[in-house]
Amino acid sequence: MNPPAAIILAAGRGTRMKSDLPKALHEVCGVPMVGHLVETARSLGVKKTVVIAGFGIAEVRRALGRSAEVVDQGELLGSGHAVSRAAGKLKNFKGPVVVFYCDTPLIGAPAVKALLEDHRRNRTDCSLLSVERDDPTGYGRIVRGRDGGVARIVEENDASDAEKAIREVNVGCYVFRAERLFDALKRVPRNPVKKEYYLTDAVGILSAEGRVGSVVTRDRGEVMGVNTPRELAEAEGILQQSILDRWSDKGVRIRDPRTTVIDADVTIGAGTLIHASTVIEEGARIGKGCVIGPFARIRGGSVIGDGAVVGNFVEIVRSSIGKRSQVKHLSYLGDAEVGESVNVGAGTITANFDGKKKHRTVIRDG
Ligand code: UD1
Ligand code: CA
Repeated sequence: MNPPAAIILAAGRGTRMKSDLPKALHEVCGVPMVGHLVETARSLGVKKTVVIAGFGIAEVRRALGRSAEVVDQGELLGSGHAVSRAAGKLKNFKGPVVVFYCDTPLIGAPAVKALLEDHRRNRTDCSLLSVERDDPTGYGRIVRGRDGGVARIVEENDASDAEKAIREVNVGCYVFRAERLFDALKRVPRNPVKKEYYLTDAVGILSAEGRVGSVVTRDRGEVMGVNTPRELAEAEGILQQSILDRWSDKGVRIRDPRTTVIDADVTIGAGTLIHASTVIEEGARIGKGCVIGPFARIRGGSVIGDGAVVGNFVEIVRSSIGKRSQVKHLSYLGDAEVGESVNVGAGTITANFDGKKKHRTVIRDG
């Protein structure tokens, strides 16, 4: 099987977020929602990731940098229309295409691998992820045929009372056979109620003409949709817990998980001890056998060497701290290069800002 391609839908405004920021750029554990999915795609060995953007496209482009190709959806005419806009970028691509919605950011690689496996083993035109919900309101319902296979997906607005009672819902993550996907999308009619082209209608077409498979997940957390600030906070809680669990499993000791905040793109070495009320952000790298906190904040671009100590009420930003160095109390280290085995006394500040430029402060070994 060819390596998969990925399409991530991120054009929506997300009105219910009540924010000017495009929905896709709202962060969960320090990483924008769309960034989580780009990372999931990368971890699956995806060679080409196409992000469909619209509202706030310049910001989305800036946030993604070179990690994905961004296509402008133009007029936002629905999820099916959005996916069809990626056709040009995948013209000669033959293989599986994974489609993600940016507002379902916690889907992990294992679920997508299960979809790819279903697609390969059962030679499906589409394999989709579904979940049983006690309250399916708002989601597309999975309508199954007599044989138990997926027949189609019906959206809330179009569902009959009997269909509304179906509790198996569409998560919004699919693997399609590329050629069949773009062919089916050409034949999706405009939904008469919402005046949009639904990707879910392509699933019905593919089921009528070929094979649609499904993977039913039990993990409620990873499939949650983020549509409101409250759901964003809930997603943050779910992901934060899994980040803390992951580092604990790798030998990091976290004294108070309730007050420890660790962003998604951080690395921490084994044997490091993290005290209460500590915040570790934006790609910080912490070595082995360090002691961090209590009440420490380690910010973007910081590198803490093996065996270093960053103590109480210390903030470190864009700085590197060498091996076995100690910054134990009440310090701010900004834009500093601190060597190995340095003892930074209580209350020390490095900040070298002349009003225009932030200059580096260098403190050598010992
Ligand atoms: C969608 C699914 C529904 C599923 C639910 C899961 C469709 C028609 N329905 O509904 O079956 O249960 O997700 O959360 O797909 N987008 C664009 N361009 C557009 C429209 C949407 O990029 O023109 C993006 C949005 O930014 C979002 C995603 O597509 O990330 C899904 O769109 P949304 O309007 O949130 O669909 P739902 O009503 O949640
Ligand atoms: Ca949604």
